[in-house]
Amino acid sequence: MAEKILYLSQADIVSLNLDMSKIIAALEQMFREKGEGRVEMPPKPGIHPRPDSFIHAMPAYIPGLNSAGMKWVSGYPENLGKGLPYISGLIILNDPETGLPLAVMDCTWITAKRTGAATAIAAKYLARLDSAVVGILGCGVQGRSNLEALKILFPIKRALSYDVSATARDLYIKEMTEKFGLEVLPAREPKDAVSGCDIVVTAGPILKIPHVTIQPGWLNAGAFASLVDFDSYWHPNALREVDKFCTDDVPQLEYYKTVGYFQNIPPIYADLGELVTGRKPGRENRDERTMTCNLGLALDDMATAPLVYRLALERGVGTWLSL
Ligand SMILES: NC(=O)c1ccc[n+]([C@@H]2O[C@H](COP(=O)([O-])OP(=O)(O)OC[C@H]3O[C@@H](n4cnc5c(N)ncnc54)[C@H](O)[C@@H]3O)[C@@H](O)[C@H]2O)c1
Repeated sequence: MAEKILYLSQADIVSLNLDMSKIIAALEQMFREKGEGRVEMPPKPGIHPRPDSFIHAMPAYIPGLNSAGMKWVSGYPENLGKGLPYISGLIILNDPETGLPLAVMDCTWITAKRTGAATAIAAKYLARLDSAVVGILGCGVQGRSNLEALKILFPIKRALSYDVSATARDLYIKEMTEKFGLEVLPAREPKDAVSGCDIVVTAGPILKIPHVTIQPGWLNAGAFASLVDFDSYWHPNALREVDKFCTDDVPQLEYYKTVGYFQNIPPIYADLGELVTGRKPGRENRDERTMTCNLGLALDDMATAPLVYRLALERGVGTWLSL
C-alpha cells in the first residue's frame, strides 16, 4: 500500500486559524532547545535563477518538539509587478523516526505568523513588561502579525502606524482597530511611530544599504525595537544608542555580513537562545534601550509546522496524496 502525505493549501492553513499564543509557546520552547544546543540547523543553501531572486532550502530538526523538515522558499522582487507574490514556497514535514514525508504545506501563513511570534519572544526578555504603546513602520503582513503577537504578551493599548502608502496605512488602521479593539492611530512621519513608543517594529523592505530614516535621539530610553526588515530603517548612530543588540542566530547574521548586509551594526550582545535559557540576562533595568534583529530561521518554521499538521489531522482538513 502506498504511503500517504497530507497536502495543506494556503486556504486550508488559513481556515485552521491556529492560535498565535500556541505559536509563541512553541517558538519559546524551540529557542530554549537551541540555547541548550539540542537542535540541528545547517546554513541555508540557495540558488539564484534571476537577478535579486533567491530560492532557499531551510532544513531544521528540533528533537524536543519531535519536528524535522524543510522550507523551500523563493523571493522574486519582480513578481510584484506581475501580480504575483514576492515570497512563495512549501514546507515539507518529515517523520523524525522514519524520515518519511508526512505533509507538504504552503509556507506563506506560517512565515507571517512565526516572524511575529519571534518578535514577541524577544520582547518578552528585552521589553518592559508594562509596554503599552507600539510603533509600527510598514503596515503589511508583518506589521499585522507582529502587533498580533505583541498584544498577547503585553498590555498594548495604542499603536502608531506609519507606511509610505497612506492607503496601506489606513487599511491597516481599520483592520487592526476592528480585530484587536486597540487604539490604532496614523503616524504622519516615521518619527511619530518611534519617539514615545515602548516597542517599535520596523517592517518595510530589506535593503543592503539602509535608508537610515531613524535618527539618533528618536528611540526613547527604556524602549525595545524589533528590526524585521534588518537594519534598513536605522541610522548606524541610532543603532549605537542601544544597550543590548540581539539576534535570533549569530552565525546567520555573520553570513549576511559576508554578502553585504549589516555593514554598520553594533556588537551582538546575545542570541534569543541565550536569553531564553538565561545564559545572558535580558532587560536589567527600566532605562535600557534594547533591540533584536531576527533574521528568520528554519527552526521558527519547523516549530510551527507540526502545530498546523496536528490541527489539520484533528479537524480533517487537507488533501491526502499517495507518495
Ligand atoms: N526577519 C524575518 O524573519 C522576516 C520574515 C518575513 C518577512 N520579512 C521582511 O519583512 C518585511 C515586511 O514583509 P511583509 O510580508 O510585511 O511585506 P508587505 O509587502 O506585506 O508589507 C510591506 C509594507 O511596507 C510598506 N513600505 C515600503 N517602504 C516603506 C518604508 N520606507 N516605510 C514604511 N513602510 C514602507 C509597503 O507600503 C507595505 O505596506 C520585508 O522586508 C520582508 O522581507 C522578514
